[in-house]
Formats: sequence, structure tokens, C-alpha cells
Amino acid sequence: MFTFTNQFISNAKNAEFLKATMMGPNAMRVAEELTSHLHINEYMRILDLGCGCGLSTFLLAKKFGACVFAADLWISPTENYERFQAIGIADKAVPIFVDATKGLPFANGYFDLLFTVDAYHYFGDTAAMLPSLIPFVKKGGYIAVAIPGLNYEFEKNVPAEMQPFWNSEMARTLHSLAWWKDLWKRAEGIELVDSREMACCKQAWQEWLTAYHPVVAGDIKMMEAEGGKYFNLIQLIAKII
Ligand SMILES: C[S@@+](CC[C@H](N)C(=O)[O-])C[C@H]1O[C@@H](n2cnc3c(N)ncnc32)[C@H](O)[C@@H]1O
Repeated sequence: MFTFTNQFISNAKNAEFLKATMMGPNAMRVAEELTSHLHINEYMRILDLGCGCGLSTFLLAKKFGACVFAADLWISPTENYERFQAIGIADKAVPIFVDATKGLPFANGYFDLLFTVDAYHYFGDTAAMLPSLIPFVKKGGYIAVAIPGLNYEFEKNVPAEMQPFWNSEMARTLHSLAWWKDLWKRAEGIELVDSREMACCKQAWQEWLTAYHPVVAGDIKMMEAEGGKYFNLIQLIAKII
């Protein structure tokens, strides 16, 4: 399942690139697992929403040859364009600034697939978000999401060992698979075709904890306390009907 990611990381220079560009659990590995549940080809136009530094964009463009619109809020299109040139995907990847909460600047039915890794929980936790995205994907196309989540809803009972790390942003964004399924089932115009906890959770987190990002030091302590008991990675795939 992880042939592309494993081969990429086996090269020392690539491994350094990954450490410098990860923004959370290894997005290349998470994206590769998510794509294993989809049928992606070089003729597809994909919106990579919340692409960050473009690790998932790189996988979609290099492994599948797809045309990818790499949309993000925090990372500028110029920074991503320079990176896409350096890694040889500038002909396949279109960097663009987007705030998903403010509406998307695309035509209805423009994309075969809306793909989003480790980003949707930041903006997708309202009943309004999924219905607002559906029109941009053509009928028969897919919305595929991978996000960090919880094995169960903490609600008011945050486990004692997690309390030093827990904050209002985590309470808003981290939810169980059942919570997300319930939210998505309320949307019209889609059929939820796949929902599961992802196999790569432990490995993707371990790889993230080797990254150079400044929040990693805190995340190492948090994951020691978490001890594999509470966090998961959640995958949701809906077909546009
Ligand atoms: C943890 S980073 C992950 C980035 C990348 N997908 C990855 O896995 O490496 C979360 C990303 O979500 C993006 N994001 C957060 N809120 C957003 C919004 N309202 N619209 C678009 N992107 C958003 C941020 O810009 C950020 O790059």
C-alpha cells in the first residue's frame, strides 16, 4: 500500500525533504493509504484542499500523474510554487490561496475528486461545510478526507494524562469516526461509500515526530502521554450523486 512513500523515504535527501515539509502525521503516507481506496488516473483534476507544503499534492501528481489544484490557507502559493518547481511537479500542480470557510473560487462540477489530508478537521466541523464543497465536484466524483481523530468522544471527560495537552482547538477539531459519520450523513447529494480508521496511524505519527517543525517537541511529549490509547486517523469517502 505504501510503495511510493517507502521508496521515496529510502533516499536520504528525500527523507530530509520530508522532515522539513511535514506539518502533521506524514501526509505522504496518509495520502497514499487514502488513494488506495480510490481509482485515480492521469486524466483526473483533483482539488487538494488544505495541501500545506504539498506532500499529498506531490503524491497525486507523481504517482498518478493527475492535475492537482494545491489549495491552502497558511502556506502561500508562491512558497508552494517554488517547492513544486524544485521537486518537478510545477507542470501538474497549481498552487492557489483558499480559505475554505469563505467559499471556493472554482466552477461547479470542476473536479473529479476533492482530496484533503490532515486539514479538513480545521474547517469541516460544521453542518454547512460539506454541502458547500459538494457542488465543486462533478456527479460520480468523490470527496475523500483523512484527518486525525479520537477513538471515542472525550466530551467533558478528557483523560487525566491528556489534560496538560488538551485545549479548545483540539476539543473543536478532534472527533470520533461515529461523530464524523453522523455529521456527513446529514448532507444531501452524497453517498458515504467508505469510513474507517486508517492503518498507517502509528507509522505516520512516528514519522511526524522526527520532523523539524517547531511544534514537534510538544507533540513528542503529548504522544508519550497518549501511549496509543486515544488518537486515530479517520478516513471518509463520499460519492457525489
Ligand atoms: C496540519 S496542516 C496539514 C497540511 C497538509 N495537508 C499536510 O498534511 O501536510 C493543516 C493545513 O490546513 C490548512 N487549512 C486550515 N484551515 C483552512 C481553511 N479554512 N481553508 C483552507 N485550508 C485550511 C492550513 O493552511 C494547513 O496547511
